Amino acid sequence: MAAQTAAARHTGTTTYDISDAGQKVGFSIIQIYEPGPDGKLAQIQYFRIKKDMRGCGLGRKCYIEMESMLRNEGVDMIELMPLDSTCGFWEKMGYNIKNGAMLKKDLKVVK
Ligand SMILES: CC(C)(COP(=O)(O)OP(=O)(O)OC[C@H]1O[C@@H](n2cnc3c(N)ncnc32)[C@H](O)[C@@H]1OP(=O)(O)O)[C@@H](O)C(=O)NCCC(=O)NCCS
Repeated sequence: MAAQTAAARHTGTTTYDISDAGQKVGFSIIQIYEPGPDGKLAQIQYFRIKKDMRGCGLGRKCYIEMESMLRNEGVDMIELMPLDSTCGFWEKMGYNIKNGAMLKKDLKVVK
């Protein structure tokens, strides 16, 4: 049963395989909430590229594809809580880093 919050209705959790050229290179877990105060919200709970495949641009490529897919699904806002060790990656993906805070990217503003 979908959980309810005061701000938004939880409509589903999806685990995505992250693939490149047909090969699984990682996975992601995303929660979708709607309609929240910021519109349809996607919360990235997990985003991981396989250890031996990091550092060659796959994270960026797959994140861009995932963001594009979320935009096509009508998502207005993406949220995530980064690990300290991955803040630099998320900054490169267009998030403003604030220590210990949930990061937000407003897809209505950031094209
Ligand atoms: C963070 C992660 C997704 C990055 O994937 P990746 O394929 O190595 O990233 P890319 O090679 O596409 O890097 C894209 C850019 O981000 C930078 N970057 C990547 N990881 C970084 C990090 N940990 N810190 C700082 N910058 C980083 C790269 O230098 C690159 O910058 P550039 O384009 O200016 O050269 C990957 O390291 C990972 O899966 N880490 C584990 C995350 C985890 O444990 N997740 C579970 C909890 S959510």
